[in-house]
Amino acid sequence: MNKNDWWKDAVVYQIYPQSFKDSNNDGIGDINGIREKIPYLKDLGVNVLWLNPIYESPMVDNGYDISDYYKIADCYGTMEDFENLLKEAHDAGIKIIMDLAVCASSIEHKWFKESKKSRDNKYSDYYIWKDPKEDGSAPNNWGSIFGSGSAWEYVEERGQYYLHLFAVEQPDLNWENPDLRNEVYENMEFWLKKGIDGFRLDSISLISKKQDFPDDPTAGENGYGSPYFGASNGPRVHEFLQEMYEKVLSKYDVMTVGEATRTPVDKALLYCQPERKELNMVFQFDHMHVDYGKFGRYSDLKFKLSDLKEAMFLWQKSLNGVGWNSLYWDNHDQPRFVSRFGNDDSKYRKLSATMLATVLFFQQGTPFIYQGDEIGMTNVAFDSIDSYKDIEAHNMYLKFSNMGLSNDEIMSYIHNKSRDNARTPMQWNSNSFAGFSCVDPWIELNPNYSKINVENDMNSDFSIHDYYKKLIKYRKGNEIVRDGDFKEIGLEDSDIFSYTRTYKGKTLLVLGSFSDKKVCYNVPNNLQKFKRELVVSNYDGNIEQNKDASTLYLRPYEALVFYMY
Ligand code: NOJ
Repeated sequence: MNKNDWWKDAVVYQIYPQSFKDSNNDGIGDINGIREKIPYLKDLGVNVLWLNPIYESPMVDNGYDISDYYKIADCYGTMEDFENLLKEAHDAGIKIIMDLAVCASSIEHKWFKESKKSRDNKYSDYYIWKDPKEDGSAPNNWGSIFGSGSAWEYVEERGQYYLHLFAVEQPDLNWENPDLRNEVYENMEFWLKKGIDGFRLDSISLISKKQDFPDDPTAGENGYGSPYFGASNGPRVHEFLQEMYEKVLSKYDVMTVGEATRTPVDKALLYCQPERKELNMVFQFDHMHVDYGKFGRYSDLKFKLSDLKEAMFLWQKSLNGVGWNSLYWDNHDQPRFVSRFGNDDSKYRKLSATMLATVLFFQQGTPFIYQGDEIGMTNVAFDSIDSYKDIEAHNMYLKFSNMGLSNDEIMSYIHNKSRDNARTPMQWNSNSFAGFSCVDPWIELNPNYSKINVENDMNSDFSIHDYYKKLIKYRKGNEIVRDGDFKEIGLEDSDIFSYTRTYKGKTLLVLGSFSDKKVCYNVPNNLQKFKRELVVSNYDGNIEQNKDASTLYLRPYEALVFYMY
């Protein structure tokens, strides 16, 4: 491994600052709260933190709408707090990567305030402005990703529309403009010079738009087409990223991970093949799409294990030896993984959470843990839409109501898929406000915090947290896990997730049962000649098997990893 490839050995912990730890009791998590928890993070064993945006923002999209890329939002603290955090994290052997959200800014950014004034000032072309069609309507039929209607908004002063793929308060930046690109690079340098260790690049597959802004011909009944149609993996995205690499990233020993919405694996390789000098890895979405229904992401469909495996195995096989994967089950935009892919009933919550962690951690790539996953935090089901904070949930509620769906049906989709499932405050203990704060937090707590919390988990006989610790420890520097070839087993098996990793003749066999019943696993013939040593198990370390050990009987949500020799 190249020494600059330290991120291949990393385990990343994602912090959603608003909901991690509130140090000043205003109900909002903050930088000093993160500082308090560095010993906790060090003990867990993670060595990189990814912070969701902490920059100045009106918080329409919880900080992804940035009004000043050089300032820390008041609610999170000061620049000095940030510098202290960085130093203390580094002293603890933990690196920090920041979110770089430059597909769009906030309408409150000074660039936009100037840009909307006229067509001929310094910032006029920092955003994507288009004339109306002859009948005055929007330039094309793209709809906003957040479901609020058209992706275009008319501004009287300029007599033009601007593009916003997300909220109307998030105008897309115009990457065609070299001045804008240089502003972005300068800002990256500002943070890198402070000593940060890399970036998670938000919505990066959407920064280059097809310049003829074509209508999406597959527009739905409401007339809106997909915003992804002319914006995903656009014509100049790789040119821009190569320029970013040359001008900025090549000068620093950092880690980069790009959020690559709507990017099939062949296109993903273009972002993450080392010789192309763009990014280290991308977040792929194929496995997040396995339970999409007729309304896309908002659905109550249950996934099929074979679909999940197909999606994840494809990435493992396709990037094997030529690129690098990021490994994740969830993040701040997704439901909690134990509720979505496991079983959050009290009987199986811990088993299924640890099983899922196991089958993820042994794949090739850099694992990402989202805050609270290490104690098996679950989805929340607030009774009323009024308790939800996420702009997307509100837009969807309105859209579905206008379509005539009942409150119950809409709420069931929101319960399953709302991004707020991941955004409820971190559950540290069973005191009031879960040890997150001493006052009512900005978003309600998940009422199960009195049972599910860090303190309880760490004090229990079966601690998910301790299990994560073991997985992290096992992975570190392990060549088979880092560099081994990946081989899928039994794609069609509807209960068991299984694969091998092999490096220089050494093999690990990984098994995880997605069933709440006992299920059989026939060890593949080519693996039967090996002796097996059990190296990871989420049960008691005993194995149930037949006499010649050719069949294993996996208990509900059992995870087993064998070293074969
Ligand atoms: C992707 C981020 O992960 C998400 O939280 C955000 O809403 C969108 N980008 C738009 O900024």
